Amino acid sequence: MKIAMVGSGYVGLVSGACFADFGHDVVCIDKDPSKIERLNNNIMPIYEPGLAELVSGNVKAGRLSFTTNLAEGIEGAQAIFIAVGTPSRRGDGHADLSYVYAVAQEVGENLKTPAVIVTKSTVPVGTGDEVERIIAETGTKVQFGVASNPEFLREGAAIGDFKRPDRIVVGVEDEWAKGVMNEVYRPLFINKAPILFTSRRSSEMIKYAANAFLAVKITFINEIADLCEKVGGNVQDVARGIGMDNRIGSKFLHAGPGYGGSCFPKDTLALLKTAEDYDSPTRIVEAVVKVNDSRKRAMGRKVVDALGGPTEARGKTAALLGLTFKPNTDDMRDAPSIAIAQTLMDAGVHVVAYDPEGMEAAAPLMPEVKMVGGAFEAVTGADVAVVVTEWDAFRAIDLERLKGALNTPVLIDLRNVFDPADARAKGFEYSSIGRI
Ligand code: UDX
Repeated sequence: MKIAMVGSGYVGLVSGACFADFGHDVVCIDKDPSKIERLNNNIMPIYEPGLAELVSGNVKAGRLSFTTNLAEGIEGAQAIFIAVGTPSRRGDGHADLSYVYAVAQEVGENLKTPAVIVTKSTVPVGTGDEVERIIAETGTKVQFGVASNPEFLREGAAIGDFKRPDRIVVGVEDEWAKGVMNEVYRPLFINKAPILFTSRRSSEMIKYAANAFLAVKITFINEIADLCEKVGGNVQDVARGIGMDNRIGSKFLHAGPGYGGSCFPKDTLALLKTAEDYDSPTRIVEAVVKVNDSRKRAMGRKVVDALGGPTEARGKTAALLGLTFKPNTDDMRDAPSIAIAQTLMDAGVHVVAYDPEGMEAAAPLMPEVKMVGGAFEAVTGADVAVVVTEWDAFRAIDLERLKGALNTPVLIDLRNVFDPADARAKGFEYSSIGRI
């Protein structure tokens, strides 16, 4: 079947390439000509493991193509996905839906054959109804349906997540659209992917509820970690112990410097706005947003304390290992490193940093931070090394060599990648999260 993917950003590109890999005929559309030109030359606009190979393979096989022309791209497509950005609107935190609505309008104006228009972008409850209204108001005589199909892709693991999802959620309001969506996802059924059909509004709600719940889980274990440090417990053991209860589940219980990224911060805020609009507060999520925000700065203060407190720290140097919000991505959106670096600089600490993929995106966000070309270069002469992102390259780092390069052997492990006993045995003054 033919699928059109409007928006060739992270979600659109990964989803489009995966649909093509499953044998569908896919056209990815984007209004940015330079992005389309780069994609046609197999240059990926984002870093995602395996994506360049997946794209080039399917382009060669003739199943995947790119265009800036929406009218041409959607021609004959039975499913037209909207996968454009929904950034937080400046000022009020609402999701900005102008791109989604603009696409709906253009699709309506150019529709020639029956199609289901599917919102893949994360959109507030009720957006599907609005998309339907906009398309209907273009006066199109062509049969169309509107579906909601949220994505649950993790950056860095997006291809695997797409091909072997825990579940596929589809919100539809009629049997015809349901049939089309079933065809779209049929190739995944061999991987035993369960598909949940529900109403459009429930589907839109599922995405926000899922991300908010995961943000709650992370924030909960982060606070338990702080308490562990005070009472002398080990948060990793606590996480394991509670996670063995199937009702709780073992995933998303890694304590760290707070969640960041393109989804959790934005989606939790958008959920709060919806809750406010409907006068139905989600107080747990409100607390999570506040706790997570303050946690990022608290991590900076933790480093200042390790440098001897505000007076002693002034003029010293901290080396940040990792800047992206998590490994295997170049994404810096809402990364804890931004608040950590800022808190350190506010305290008069010099900051040097290295990240395997994120320095280009990070540099404009922290212009006073000195970016260097490697982990050892960063720590040489520094007074503290801080593991901010758990890149594999840092997990395997030679601790003896690290100690030798540092001015003072202070190691702060915000991702719990090292064994405390081992780090201390090697002579480090070592602190981590929720472990003493
Ligand atoms: C997330 C969701 O997982 C995905 O389903 C959704 O569609 C988009 O948002 P992503 O933002 O790519 O994906 O990253 P994820 O791996 O979920 O991590 C998000 C943040 O939480 C990162 O900052 C990560 O470091 C942090 N995290 C995650 C923890 O601190 N502890 C954990 O146990 C898990």
